[in-house]
Amino acid sequence: MNHPTSAGTGDPISQPTAMKLSADEPLRIDASNAFAGVERNNPGHRPMKDLPMQTIVSAEPEPMTHALTLPNGSVLRNRLAKAAMSETLGTWDNRPKPGLVTLYGRWAASGLGLIITGNVMIDRRALGEPGNVAIEDETDLPILRRWAAAATSQGAAIWVQLNHPGKQATKGLNAETVAPSAVPFREDMQGLFATPREMTTAEIENIIHRFGKSAAVCKMAGFTGVQIHGAHGYLISQFLSPHHNQRNDAWGGSPEKRRRFVLAVYAEIRRQVGPAFPVAIKLNSADFQRGGFSEEESLETVRALAEAGIDLIEVSGGTYEAPAMSGGIDETKKASTRAREAYFLDFAARARDAAPGVPLMVTGGFRTVKAMNAALGSGALDVVGLARLLAIDPDAPRHLLAGRDPTEQVKPIRTGITKIDRMGIMEIFWYTAQLKRIAKGGDPRPRESGLKSFLRAVLTSGWGAFRTRRARA
Ligand SMILES: Cc1cc2nc3c(=O)[nH]c(=O)nc-3n(C[C@H](O)[C@H](O)[C@H](O)COP(=O)(O)O)c2cc1C
Repeated sequence: MNHPTSAGTGDPISQPTAMKLSADEPLRIDASNAFAGVERNNPGHRPMKDLPMQTIVSAEPEPMTHALTLPNGSVLRNRLAKAAMSETLGTWDNRPKPGLVTLYGRWAASGLGLIITGNVMIDRRALGEPGNVAIEDETDLPILRRWAAAATSQGAAIWVQLNHPGKQATKGLNAETVAPSAVPFREDMQGLFATPREMTTAEIENIIHRFGKSAAVCKMAGFTGVQIHGAHGYLISQFLSPHHNQRNDAWGGSPEKRRRFVLAVYAEIRRQVGPAFPVAIKLNSADFQRGGFSEEESLETVRALAEAGIDLIEVSGGTYEAPAMSGGIDETKKASTRAREAYFLDFAARARDAAPGVPLMVTGGFRTVKAMNAALGSGALDVVGLARLLAIDPDAPRHLLAGRDPTEQVKPIRTGITKIDRMGIMEIFWYTAQLKRIAKGGDPRPRESGLKSFLRAVLTSGWGAFRTRRARA
């Protein structure tokens, strides 16, 4: 398999342009070793130390602005991606609302190279939250086409994240909850989440087929790729986990058999979309749960997916029971992790060694342009994933690509009521409310108080709706 490569494109944002210096762009003459990875990935790249002394080096040639060619030949115009954030902008019967067109039009204008949608369900009988969009067939092609067109209107790629929640669906949301095995939730979560029923082989095969069908409809609608949601404790992640998957048939019992489901989903999608359409996955580095999916098994999964031909792997981690994806697990991070910001960088370096040919994206914790460029420059990853920042500052990529820090900062969202804050849904509610503002054509309110947002949510939708939103992203 080829290495992911870096190349300039004709796009004004990704093109490393000649040395111009505007008043509000900082002068950069020292990139230390931040270009090591760029040189590795881009043989044509000229290291800064070789440039003539009199050359003014602007913010332009940072690793972030370089295009990335995926193994299948498709190109991302730069290294900044919006990671999935569930918008819950589906109608009561899970069809896309026009607000999605507005929301994605806003992100499209920001200069992002890649936009990944919030999770879209492959089966309306298995929702993760009320208001999810489900894509099962061609019924909604007209609005899906408008959504894809808005997102791609300015040159970004847009991939739809496809998901099945398995057991991570709150009680009462679906007629029935199914999972690889009938393993109950952690005791303190059992009030909110039912113990699932073990899936039959026929159900497993049906779900695999549905992933492929949803991907084919996305392609028809003009989306430029899909991402399998294989992280955060949903169905695919449940199959991978020895804790959640206790089967002893062809789908469980050994690491190889637990991996069979994700590989079958990938193969079916590939069969239905063809070789040139990007198919990516979001995968946990680990579940951070006793007896769960370990780093070693994750690395084996990375290798297997690479061999199967996956186009990009996004690294994340955690589940509802152990929410590491938003930094919630380790409040006392090592100083080195704090400086590098991102939560899963060490694992990304290991994944790079395990499968050197596969482009890697890392999401979780990135806040400053310096940390993003340093991570890209280290060569451990190819794409920086951003989620919460883009809900409060949808135009942030424009600043980042020009070498400037964003104007807003991601901070913990709290109501001040310990019982509510401990539930973990507060953040999801608060950020989703910001997405909905943008979807209505307005601006986010980054300084809105957690308590105010919580009270509004309960007053408008009632405590029941708040409770049935999933606990974690
Ligand atoms: C409101 C909200 C919704 C999210 N929905 C999803 C989702 O649908 N799929 C997914 O893979 N991750 C989801 N996430 C997790 C993010 O993609 C990301 O992994 C996490 O927020 C850490 O990145 P950040 O530090 O840049 O925010 C969600 C996060 C938030 C805040």
